[in-house]
Amino acid sequence: MSVARTILLKMAKSPFLNRQATQRSFVRRATRRFMPGEAPEDALHAAQMLKAEGRGTVFTKLGENLTSLADADAVRDHYLWFFDQLAASGLDGHVSIKPTQLGLDLSFDQCQAHLLTLAARSESIGKVLWIDMEDSSYVDRTLALYRAVRSRHPKVGVCLQAYLRRTPADLESLLSISPIIRLVKGAYAEPADVAFRVKADTDRAYFDLADRMLQAAPGGFCVPVLGTHDIPLIDRLVARAKAHGVAERQYEIHMLYGIRDAGQRRLRSDGHTVKTLISYGSAWYRWYMRRLAERPANVWFVVRSMLG
Ligand code: FDA
Repeated sequence: MSVARTILLKMAKSPFLNRQATQRSFVRRATRRFMPGEAPEDALHAAQMLKAEGRGTVFTKLGENLTSLADADAVRDHYLWFFDQLAASGLDGHVSIKPTQLGLDLSFDQCQAHLLTLAARSESIGKVLWIDMEDSSYVDRTLALYRAVRSRHPKVGVCLQAYLRRTPADLESLLSISPIIRLVKGAYAEPADVAFRVKADTDRAYFDLADRMLQAAPGGFCVPVLGTHDIPLIDRLVARAKAHGVAERQYEIHMLYGIRDAGQRRLRSDGHTVKTLISYGSAWYRWYMRRLAERPANVWFVVRSMLG
């Protein structure tokens, strides 16, 4: 892991820097590269633009590690309202949520109850509810939540991280419940005994895991979603999908808003199902620092915004 990445991920945890950054208009300006705006309406508006290009959307309201169950209730209520907007919008739009944004740090049962409520509502309007994966201390609980919700609602997906050494075993065990899986590389600072430190190892693991997901797709044992901006890797996996006889509609490619946009358009025009994850909300600091850590050169956007 590069020194810059380590420093940026450490900075992501600082409440002091969080307060400082969110008060600075130039930082807020710099975040616009990765989010169309803080209001849910900004996200819905951006999604309509993407729809015109044939791209679907996954929405997420930023926020994590809530410290009060009342705040988690408010997040659940927000999403219930948001599903009404989605139903009325005609968008191919879905929602992705972090378990700690529904109070996982405070109560597993409450978090599960909220996820079940949201999964039922999401399913009633024909959408997939996505469960994000946070740092490695949450993986067991997140997978337990996924299994509990999946046993009642088929349209629910979970994120797995290729950098974790445990993920091949997690994937094999999930295949028995025909999961919907978004495979990502992983965005958190993890110790070496838990996650690969060298990017090439993560990239190799990503290929092998995605290949396994694609093999399972034709039999209906997995709905694979490639959550990465690594276009050469996606191109190699598209070739593997063809080799395994997986039809284009049997897997999807998801990327973040503002990253590799031309690549997203090219993949869409090649006939792939492409969805863009759009974030909104005011609690963007930690999420934004993870985006900087993924590509430390992004810090120059902050500097440029400061210079106007
Ligand atoms: P990689 O880092 O190799 O980047 C490939 C190329 O993409 C780079 O060369 C660069 O061109 C471009 N790129 C990547 N990141 C960029 C950035 N921030 N700014 C500008 N360009 C960039 N993680 C997690 O731990 N839990 C989760 O739930 C999710 N959810 C999630 C959903 C979706 C739809 C995506 C696309 C990603 C996530 N992630 C995530 C984040 C993921 O773990 C990972 O940190 C990022 O996707 C960056 O890795 P890449 O796969 O893009 O590869």
